[in-house]
Amino acid sequence: MSVELSVNLGGLVMKNPVTVASGTFGSGREYAELWSASPSCPGPLNALGAITTKGVSFEPWAGNPGIRITETASGMLNSIGLQNGGVEYFCSNDLVWLASQNVPVIVNVSGHSGEEYTKVIQRLEREEAVAAYEVNISCPNVASGGMSFGTDAAAAAEVTKLCRQATKRPLLVKLTPNVTDITEIARAVEAAGADAISLINTVAGMAIDAQKRTKVFDRGVAGLSGPAVKPVALYAVYRVYQAVDIPLLGIGGIRSACDAVEFFLAGATAVAVGTANFSDPLRALRLAEELSAWCASEGIQDIKELRGALKDG
Ligand SMILES: Cc1cc2nc3c(=O)[nH]c(=O)nc-3n(C[C@H](O)[C@H](O)[C@H](O)COP(=O)(O)O)c2cc1C
Repeated sequence: MSVELSVNLGGLVMKNPVTVASGTFGSGREYAELWSASPSCPGPLNALGAITTKGVSFEPWAGNPGIRITETASGMLNSIGLQNGGVEYFCSNDLVWLASQNVPVIVNVSGHSGEEYTKVIQRLEREEAVAAYEVNISCPNVASGGMSFGTDAAAAAEVTKLCRQATKRPLLVKLTPNVTDITEIARAVEAAGADAISLINTVAGMAIDAQKRTKVFDRGVAGLSGPAVKPVALYAVYRVYQAVDIPLLGIGGIRSACDAVEFFLAGATAVAVGTANFSDPLRALRLAEELSAWCASEGIQDIKELRGALKDG
């Protein structure tokens, strides 16, 4: 039985509902090299519905000093700090390569101010290879910008409005779970012109070295991801699905077809694989295949049948 897997994520047409979560996949080049060297690899990069890049800022960002990653029970904490080479570097290196891969590219956009987000998008508007933007207003690992926009409905709306004015391309806005009411922020970014919402970014957490009696991360706070956050992400998708009319990209601890299906039932249109890429670099690619098999075994002809199809009980 052939299963229809294509979805439309706020204007971005994806041949299947699987992308990768920003920051866990670089711009895909290292993974593509690894995949092509793997005899069990099920396909090339463009077997994914889309690629989502690491966050891109206007100027280069150095990222955070000190320890940047530590493992936790069922997940990991990171404090990368949105390190990247800036939009010019991205365009002349990563994007040139991505353009040859024949896969929709979602560029994740970072900034310290609304103006900085806009400048990144304005520069990327000159590039044909960009299919959509994902505006990150939800990173807990930077001192200014990032999550400070995503925890305040008015600030989230303002950044979204400025980005909206800069592009007609599909505009995804990525939300943080570190708020009291995520539906308030979701409604604000929808009203300001977002075409879709990505959720969730990492959950704020910390690690302490008992022996040294010190914080593990220089900034104290870090972002929790992986299977540990899946229930938080599912609940966020479930609530936001009932609050807005625009499509949702579900992110958080997704490893298997069953995980992805749970997100579709909660209301997601597409899903992204993040931390799971680190333990299984072929995970995202296999997920698209596994979803097709899961649907076929359940007699589901079109993946869209699952969206929001949670039953009472
Ligand atoms: C090492 C690392 C770097 C990340 N960098 C970014 C980033 O640049 N921009 C962004 O929006 N999210 C970033 N994230 C958040 C992920 O895209 C994702 O929202 C989060 O990790 C939850 O998904 P997961 O549990 O599947 O990893 C990063 C996550 C990790 C683990």
